[in-house]
Amino acid sequence: LKSDRKILDMNAFDAGLGEIPQRTARRLNNLGSASVLFYREPIEVTKAAGAWLHAADGTRYLDFYNNVPSVGHSHPAVVAAVSEQLATNNINSRYLVEIVDRYIEALKALLPDDLGNVVLTCTGSEANDLALRMAHRWTGATGVIVTECAYHGNTGLTTEISPSALRRSDPPDHVVVVAPPDRRVYGDNVVEGFAKAVSEAATTLRERGHGLSCMVADSIFSSDGVFSNPPGLLRPVVEAVHAAGGLFIADEVQPGFARTGRSFWGYARHGITPDMVTMGKPMGNGYPMAGVAARSEYVSAFCAEVGYFNTFGCTPAAAAAGLAVLDVIEREGLVENATTVGAHLLDRLTDIAEDAAMVGEVRGAGMFLGVDICGPDGAPDADATVATIDRLRASGVLVGAAGPRGATIKMRPALSLSQDEAEIFLAAFRKAVES
Ligand SMILES: Cc1ncc(COP(=O)(O)O)c(C=O)c1O
Repeated sequence: LKSDRKILDMNAFDAGLGEIPQRTARRLNNLGSASVLFYREPIEVTKAAGAWLHAADGTRYLDFYNNVPSVGHSHPAVVAAVSEQLATNNINSRYLVEIVDRYIEALKALLPDDLGNVVLTCTGSEANDLALRMAHRWTGATGVIVTECAYHGNTGLTTEISPSALRRSDPPDHVVVVAPPDRRVYGDNVVEGFAKAVSEAATTLRERGHGLSCMVADSIFSSDGVFSNPPGLLRPVVEAVHAAGGLFIADEVQPGFARTGRSFWGYARHGITPDMVTMGKPMGNGYPMAGVAARSEYVSAFCAEVGYFNTFGCTPAAAAAGLAVLDVIEREGLVENATTVGAHLLDRLTDIAEDAAMVGEVRGAGMFLGVDICGPDGAPDADATVATIDRLRASGVLVGAAGPRGATIKMRPALSLSQDEAEIFLAAFRKAVES
């Protein structure tokens, strides 16, 4: 089940593939090998609004990759809230500032009652890093279960639990991977099969002497290729993790904040109460902010051992961005829009899959969708996926790739996507897979 395509290499600019345009050379010169750019011919963005990106060459793109400015690019309400707060005060997190508590209380109102503390960080990586450390402290165990193509961050600890980032090695001994809840792996009884794989992984960790600290799972399994069904599938998994003495950490960095429709969090689709919830990307609509919601006892046990301080972790400007995002989601009815327009996209993509030989399985929930792209032999095919992504770009639509073989097109439009914009996408997609 080892993946052969790494997440950062999917649909990425490759300096080895020919002449490097001057603008790209400048960037490579500045960032060196740590530069990751989308597309064989990178796009230079000048401005963005709603579901659209504008490029320096005058092209306008419908952004179906968008998972950060989730309520719409440069949303005026978020811009105004952050600007006003920046002009008022934006100090480090060691002072009392009312807006920070107001934000955390608003967030807590959306989370399970048991998760009494929300520790704010700047990135999803930091949130997962802290969650791992709290789980280790609480359980006394070090073993972690993740899915085979998971991505949970870029710190030392989170890279170890991100098989999709490891280019040359397998995860270390204290990390055991399980296949995502894919019918093609577990058969029709994917729920039972997935939970059994998690139980077995816990046994392996015990036998290796690590014990089970936690399972960390992206509730929509995005980098694994987007797996959302059947609803409820995480329930026996959480039971298996608890039976083995571990904690279940829902990584909501991708599916959180209304993305999967019907509810605010991706895990809610599965009717579970996680022991911790980590979040990030869409939280500030582009303003860098993230966090971990946890039971208070985990936070106090951890902080009894190690002081935790994060300079930019809950700045007033971050709180202003966060409050504006929550307000826009509520005021613009974005959970409902993600549900209805997302369901329409899923239905139409399923129709296209019936007509177009190169389109395989269509999966997803709300406005988080995945479509497998197949080669001439009918099997998911990375080259055919990249070619499709390039054809979509030529038609003015931006999407991404995911999955173990990089053969799944991943789609996450602005939650405010209109029906008309959905039709623009569907026409471009049909053209790209029928050509
Ligand atoms: C599921 C998931 N968790 C965590 C992270 C890390 O977040 P960040 O890049 O903000 O550190 C990512 C980033 O892509 C992610 O997709």
